[in-house]
Amino acid sequence: MNTLPTIAIIGGTGKEGKGLAFRWAKTGYHVIIGSRTPEKARSTAAELITLLSGTPDSSMLLSPTVYLDSADNLTAAQHADILVLTVPYAAHRSTLESIREAAQGKILVDVTVPLVPPKVTKVQMPPSGSAAQEAREILGEGVEVVDAFQNISYEHLLAEKSVECDVLVTGSSKEARQQVLELVKAAGMTGWDAGPLENSVVVEGLTSVLIHLNKQYGLRSSGIRIIGIPAE
Ligand SMILES: NC(=O)c1ccc[n+]([C@@H]2O[C@H](COP(=O)([O-])OP(=O)(O)OC[C@H]3O[C@@H](n4cnc5c(N)ncnc54)[C@H](OP(=O)(O)O)[C@@H]3O)[C@@H](O)[C@H]2O)c1
Repeated sequence: MNTLPTIAIIGGTGKEGKGLAFRWAKTGYHVIIGSRTPEKARSTAAELITLLSGTPDSSMLLSPTVYLDSADNLTAAQHADILVLTVPYAAHRSTLESIREAAQGKILVDVTVPLVPPKVTKVQMPPSGSAAQEAREILGEGVEVVDAFQNISYEHLLAEKSVECDVLVTGSSKEARQQVLELVKAAGMTGWDAGPLENSVVVEGLTSVLIHLNKQYGLRSSGIRIIGIPAE
């Protein structure tokens, strides 16, 4: 029996959500791809199954320990233990409002970067301080909100090689951050507990700095790595 938590990816048909789904499904998590359009979710799940196994099967069952399902965003949120939000910032509030009830008592991992096109190389934080703090205000205290993966380009996620960028994890409680650090590890990356939700301003803002560096120096999906780790 699969005892790992079920993960719903809200907006899982996009670039970042698909990459995260690929990594977690590969390591045995039950992942539900969510979308506004169930058919789009279904074709994304089928695409990932093909990537993972070579042949999509009608029950979406890859092996006794690997599952990938699809649903509309609300149904996905209702059937999961952990919700992961991967939608553009313009859709952040409306999407959160649509799953607010289903999210109660659960962890919501917010991957959103509050980019305001066209100036995506400039840090432009919302009045709440960060997208994650805004999410907590919308969802209420019954939902643990954790910020993660903002600095990981989707290009790394679908690649087989290891990701050369660490993941800073901020969140509304230490316990929730710890659970998300497990997900970071399962996805093949090094995660760091980067403190309370108020610190999300740095993590989310860093993405605009990385996009600026990519443009300025012609870098390919730049990232960060934490140093100073004591030798064992
Ligand atoms: N791309 C990256 O490398 C990267 C890296 C780090 C963080 N992020 C952040 O992760 C989030 C997702 O990025 P992405 O590149 O994956 O975005 P994306 O591919 O443009 O969109 C993701 C999904 O969001 C849904 N969506 C789009 N517009 C919407 C709307 N107006 N209302 C509701 N849902 C809408 C769509 O799903 P349906 O049409 O199926 O509903 C879409 O497939 C963003 O906040 C981004 O800043 C991205």
